[in-house]
Amino acid sequence: MAKTKTERQAERHPAQATHAEITEPTTLVLFGATGGLSAKYLLPALGHLAKNGLLGPSFRLVGVSQQSHTDDEFRKWIGSAATNALPGTAEELVRTARISHLSADLSAPGWEKALAKKIGARSCRTVYYLATPPSLFDPVVEGLARARLNRRAGGGTPAIVLEKPFGRDLRSARHLNRHLARHFDESQVFRMDHYLGKDTVQNILAFRFENGLFEPVWNREHIDHVQITVAEDEGMSSRGRYYEEAGALRDVVQSHALQLLAQIAMEPASSWAAKDVRARRVEALRGLKPLAPQQIGTRVISGQYAAGEDMLGRPTAGYRDERFVPTGSKVETFVALAAELPNRRWKGVPFYIRTGKRMPKRVAEITVQFKPSRHRRREHGGGANLLTLRVQPNEGIALRLFLKRPGEAPESLEEVDMSFCYRDAFAGKLPSAYDRLLLDALCGNQGLFTRADEVEAAWRFVDPILRHWQRHDVRPRRYAAGRWGPAAADRLLEADGRRWWSDRLDVCPVPGAGQAVTHPDG
Ligand code: BG6
Repeated sequence: MAKTKTERQAERHPAQATHAEITEPTTLVLFGATGGLSAKYLLPALGHLAKNGLLGPSFRLVGVSQQSHTDDEFRKWIGSAATNALPGTAEELVRTARISHLSADLSAPGWEKALAKKIGARSCRTVYYLATPPSLFDPVVEGLARARLNRRAGGGTPAIVLEKPFGRDLRSARHLNRHLARHFDESQVFRMDHYLGKDTVQNILAFRFENGLFEPVWNREHIDHVQITVAEDEGMSSRGRYYEEAGALRDVVQSHALQLLAQIAMEPASSWAAKDVRARRVEALRGLKPLAPQQIGTRVISGQYAAGEDMLGRPTAGYRDERFVPTGSKVETFVALAAELPNRRWKGVPFYIRTGKRMPKRVAEITVQFKPSRHRRREHGGGANLLTLRVQPNEGIALRLFLKRPGEAPESLEEVDMSFCYRDAFAGKLPSAYDRLLLDALCGNQGLFTRADEVEAAWRFVDPILRHWQRHDVRPRRYAAGRWGPAAADRLLEADGRRWWSDRLDVCPVPGAGQAVTHPDG
């Protein structure tokens, strides 16, 4: 049977499908249309897609929010909100798409009838995007089902996109999955983790599997350990209320950091088809060994930033002084941990994860430390090749090698970095994660979205830590803003005879730009 265009696109490497386009008339129903996420990411992404002519014929946007906007007011608001984020794109969205607005209180049944009326005869494919607080996921799913908006109609099978966080522990994630499964088939469900939409994250698989060089050494024989860092220099701005419910473990480890781990750890898929790649990602996450209670005390370090300094040496407030944060907050803004995947490829190789707010710099990267060559071990007591895959910013890849110093004896060695920078190789052309994911959701390509069992596998690893912290009333250690977390995070690696690299290496630094202030004592 001839394959449809969407199926053909889904079979291509995810990073090659950027030029997917919507071929059928599509309606996007955006719940939370006037919220922060829509204004900052979704509407600019839609504007960008419109500008590039990728939204297909007769694209319609129905914004749902509590605001009492008329259609016209909503269009104007889009102009202002989206234009601020990405100049010049909102006009194109407003010019090319049919845009309307529905004022609704989603927590009280009844809105779904008004929505069904607004959508009208469903001769278009409909995509429901839930950019709302998670507490509204259940009522929205329920409402869509009541109005039978979850069912196939003339325009095709509808899809539902859910923003993270997907649950707040294993139990609530399972509940949400079961609830969704009652009304939607898994093929209709798109769970967001925007790290999967980042080109540099997709490139990890291309790098590993399309270069014959790395796969033979990508295992416990040759790799000493892996470090994953997702550090941010910013604090809370206005997100204190959300963060009090989340904390770094739920906010970043359960989702983004474990997805980075899955890209490094997974087995090659039998093809680039979405279903094969997803199956391998799930398998990698399932391979994570949940930490035993006696390990959690020593292998998981939590921290909370106190007052300190930002990159430029300006004083910054501590977490407890941020807006909407109670003065006695026990919420962690930093986590470092050591994870294990005791399978044939990775047994004995620690995966260290570190994430935090108010770190010395914003950096997301993975460093793979190789075992020293037999010669180096014997003659020089160690020293290791490092491979750093920089997700952001200054995207690139660096490989640390040992070379002979010119004119000196062969054993007189120098560490040098061989690097590739996106900035130089591709003239800085990196698509935004939200452009990519929105387009994929609108086209029905599920490859870069997480499966039900995938989010549950990630929660299965995180859950024992959350329970342990709660049971033992574990309080995060304080660290001064602008540091790499509490000193205990350094000791975590030192106890294993290792050290963190992100504070010492810099991939693709911008020429002429000042280096971030680093505090080697953590
Ligand atoms: C979000 C988290 O999912 O990811 C935020 O909720 C975090 O707390 C953000 O700041 C990081 O995303 P990025 O793309 O800026 O690394």
